[in-house]
Amino acid sequence: MGTFPKGFLWGAATSSYQVEGNNNNCDWWEWEKKTNHEQSGAACRHYELYEQDFDLAKELGHNAHRFSIGWSRVEPQEGVFSESEIEHYRRVIRALKERGLEPVVTLHHFTNPLWLVKLGGWEKNKVQDYFLRYVKKIVDALSQDVRFWITINEPLIYVSHCYIMGVWPPQEKSTWKAKQVENNLLKSHIKAYNLIHGIYRNKNIPSVFVSFAKNMQAFVPYNNSWLNKLAVYLRNKFFNFEFVEQAINKSSLDFIGINYYSRSLVNAKNPGFHDLFLRTANDENIKKNSLGWDIYPQGLYDLLVKLKKFKLPVMISENGICTSDDNLRWEYIREHLKSLAQAMSEGVEVWGYLYWSLLDNFEWDKGFGPRFGLIEVDYQNYKRNVRGSARKLAEVCRTGVVIEPPINNGTN
Ligand code: FCB
Repeated sequence: MGTFPKGFLWGAATSSYQVEGNNNNCDWWEWEKKTNHEQSGAACRHYELYEQDFDLAKELGHNAHRFSIGWSRVEPQEGVFSESEIEHYRRVIRALKERGLEPVVTLHHFTNPLWLVKLGGWEKNKVQDYFLRYVKKIVDALSQDVRFWITINEPLIYVSHCYIMGVWPPQEKSTWKAKQVENNLLKSHIKAYNLIHGIYRNKNIPSVFVSFAKNMQAFVPYNNSWLNKLAVYLRNKFFNFEFVEQAINKSSLDFIGINYYSRSLVNAKNPGFHDLFLRTANDENIKKNSLGWDIYPQGLYDLLVKLKKFKLPVMISENGICTSDDNLRWEYIREHLKSLAQAMSEGVEVWGYLYWSLLDNFEWDKGFGPRFGLIEVDYQNYKRNVRGSARKLAEVCRTGVVIEPPINNGTN
């Protein structure tokens, strides 16, 4: 059994591009058209249907919701802001608050305005100024109603997918550029952190909490070879913790936002870069999501315990599964919540749990196939259908208790 404290934040997360629809002024939209990928099109039509989606979130016992601002919507041209789009997000926040949902607002979730890309995107240091100007505008406009800001979603996933593996726009494979981009993401976060706190201070708004959403993976050695132990150490250091440490060294994290999904079975055979950092083995005996990611709830506990040394509260800013088997979805959620409760009972301070995602949505280069939602979306007519797993999670949100499943001894 796992129990959670009163005031714990329960909810789900989305991102602008993946749910809103018709975000046609950004790099992903162009990229889908240019390459042979499924197109996001109207996505979930959440841009129009957000009120009904938030009604469902409320009905499901949520008291928080994470979403992102579409930078390309609110700043369609360099330095030109759209007051009507900013007003849209004001309405979104109002709709959340009216339903008792605490907004957790992400400022950058993978997509970029086209004008920014033309100016060199995240490769050029100038991006720090562009990002800051955008952050200032948005935070000034929305500060009255927002306490939780996530500056950047999964900085190292952005770097690795866009600049190392080259599978997301701009499809580069350059370690040099990757380093530049990582550095710009970190500096932009640190500057945005200071800027946001400055705005709240000037306005005398007492509480604001700023973080990024850091993807973390459980790295488990395939066997006990010294090479695998070294590879696990290096991957933990450079993928999981270094970015966090650098931000903490600059006093620019109020809590640690973690996106946790899966484990990597580390299988290094040679002491070269590829094996130490990328080579994995496949374990056919472990349950997987529909994209083939290992389901490994223990990893969440292990990571949380390791994070204790930073002495900062944690928020699970994403955790979820894509599957066509809703029983497996519930099992995934339940087991991860048990890991979370276990870590909390051992002294890790956790503020909230946000499931990815509220709705089925557009999963980047994988398109609409993977179904991550607590709520199913029928893409023919955009009807929503609440899944059983969502109702079971709702019980936990309401009671703060995760009950063990009854033992099936074969007699029933
Ligand atoms: C995370 C992303 C999110 C979604 C989930 C499945 O890496 O932050 O947008 O794609 O994975």
